[in-house]
Amino acid sequence: MTRVGIKRILAWLVIIIVVIVLANLVLGWLARRGPVQHVTVTTEQFQHGRYLTDAADCAACHTRPGGAPFAGGFPLETPFGTIHGTNITPDPDHGIGRYTSEEFFHALTRGEARDGHQLYPAMPYASYRTMSRADSDAIYAYLMNLPAVAQPNRKNDVHFPANIRTALHGWNLLFAGREIPPASSGASAQWKRGQYLVDVLGHCGECHTPRGALGQLKLDRTMTGNADLGRYAAPDITPAGLAARGWDAAMLREYLATGMSKRAVASDEMLTVVGLSTSRLSDEDLIAMTTYLLGDKAPAPKAIAMNARIGEGPAQRSYFNLCAGCHGNDGQGVPNVAVSLRENSSLREADPHNLVVAILDGLPVHDFPGIARMQDMPGFADDLDDAQVAALATWLRQRFGGQSEAVTEAAVRDLRQSRTKH
Ligand code: HEC
Ligand code: HEC
Ligand code: HEC
Repeated sequence: MTRVGIKRILAWLVIIIVVIVLANLVLGWLARRGPVQHVTVTTEQFQHGRYLTDAADCAACHTRPGGAPFAGGFPLETPFGTIHGTNITPDPDHGIGRYTSEEFFHALTRGEARDGHQLYPAMPYASYRTMSRADSDAIYAYLMNLPAVAQPNRKNDVHFPANIRTALHGWNLLFAGREIPPASSGASAQWKRGQYLVDVLGHCGECHTPRGALGQLKLDRTMTGNADLGRYAAPDITPAGLAARGWDAAMLREYLATGMSKRAVASDEMLTVVGLSTSRLSDEDLIAMTTYLLGDKAPAPKAIAMNARIGEGPAQRSYFNLCAGCHGNDGQGVPNVAVSLRENSSLREADPHNLVVAILDGLPVHDFPGIARMQDMPGFADDLDDAQVAALATWLRQRFGGQSEAVTEAAVRDLRQSRTKH
C-alpha cells in the first residue's frame, strides 16, 4: 500500500472515532434531558402533598434562608465537607422538572439521582428508605406544581476521598439498607403511625442518633443523643432519657407544636425542625409522635427536688446580677419574657453542653406565627470567664436541675473556642 493510502485510512479512522464519541455524548445528553414532566393535582392532593412535605421537612435542606422555596443552595456542614441541598422545584434544567414519579421515588428511598449519580447520605435516604410509594408520589405531585425557579445548583466542597461518588455504593451496601430499630416499645396503631412519622418522614434519628467514623448512624444506640452536630447537641430522646429529664406526653406535644414548653424551648437546628415541620402537623399526628417517643407504656417523668439550700457565693451572685432580672429570683421565669429554669431540661442533661452554649451565646428571638413571642437572651461570653461560667452552670444544675456533678472549666473552654466555627 502506498503512504498516501495509509494516511487516508488513518484519517477515516479518526473521523469515525470522533463521530462515535460525539454521538455518544449527544445521546447521553438527550437521555439525561428526557421529556419535561407535567403533573395535574386536585386541591386536596396538593394540600395532602404539602402536609407530607412538611412532615418530611424537605424545606430544611432544600430552601436557603431568604431564598426561593425549594430552590436549593442550603449549605449542610458535614465532617466530610460542605454539601448543598439541590433545587427541587419543577425547573427542567436546574430542578426536578424531568424526574418521573418513579425516578423521584428512587432518589428519596435509595439516593439515586435521575442522571444516575449517587447522592450523598446528607440527603436522608437511609431514613426515607421505607417511605411509602403513595407518600412519595404525593410529595412529588405537590413539588411539581410549585413555581419553577431557574436557580443553578451550588458546587459542593467535599474533600478526598469522600468526593468519589462511586465509593458511596460501598457505603450503601454497608449502611443504607439497615432497618432502624424502634426507639421504644409499643404495638398500638398510634405507636405505629408515630414510628413512621418519627423514623421515616421526620428522620429525627439523623440528628438524635450518634454517628460512626464513616458518618453512619449507630443504630444500636438509636436516639441516645449526638453531641457532634452543630453548635447545640441533640439530646437523648429515648423514653428513659426523656423521663429522666422530666418530660411527659403533654409537654412533648406542646414542645413539638410550638417550640416552647415547661421543660424547654427549642433553639438552633431544633427550632428549624419545629418551625418548618412539627408545628405544622395535626394534633393527631403529634399525639402519635409522642406515643412513639415515649412508648405505649410511657415511663413516669422523674421528679427532682429543688435544692434551695445551696447558694451564697460568686455563682449565686452571677445569677442574681445577670440572670434573675429575666428568669426570676427563684428561676420561675416571667410569662412572655423568659422561660422558667426550674426543672428545665437543659439543666438536667448529663452533658452540660447545651446549657453552657446558651450562657455563652445567648438565644435569638423566638418567633412563630400565631404564638406568643419570647424575647431574645443576650450572650455572656464577654462578661464571664471560663471559671465563672463553669461555676454558674454548676450552681444552676444543683439549684434547679437536680444534677450534682460539677461542670468543668475545660468543658467551657472547648465550647468557647468552637464558637466561631459555627
Ligand atoms: C437533611 C437534609 C435533607 C433533607 C431533609 C432532604 N434532602 Fe433532598 N437532598 C439533600 C442534599 C444535600 C442533596 C444533594 C446531595 C448530593 O449532592 O449528593 C439532596 C438531593 C435531593 C434530590 C436529588 C436532586 C437532583 O439534583 O437530582 C431530590 C429529588 C431530593 N433531594 C428531594 C428531597 C425531598 C422530596 C425531601 C423531603 C421528602 C428531601 N429531599 C429532604 C438534603 C436533604
Ligand atoms: C437537624 C437536626 C435535628 C433534627 C432533624 C431533629 N432534632 Fe430534635 N433537637 C436537635 C437539637 C440540636 C436539639 C437541642 C436544642 C435545644 O436544646 O434547644 C433538639 C432537641 C429536641 C428535643 C428537646 C429535648 C430536651 O430535653 O430539651 C426534643 C423532644 C426533640 N429534639 C425531638 C425531635 C423530634 C421528635 C424530631 C423529629 C421530628 C427531631 N427532634 C428532629 C436537633 C434535631
Ligand atoms: C434579657 C432577659 C434574659 C437574661 C438577662 C437571661 N436570660 Fe436566659 N433566656 C431568656 C429568654 C427570653 C429565653 C428563651 C429564649 C427562646 O425563646 O429561645 C432564655 C432561655 C434560657 C435558657 C434555655 C432554656 C431552655 O428552655 O432551653 C437558659 C439555660 C438560660 N436562659 C439561662 C440563663 C442564664 C444562666 C442567664 C444569666 C447568665 C440568663 N439566662 C440571662 C431571657 C434572658
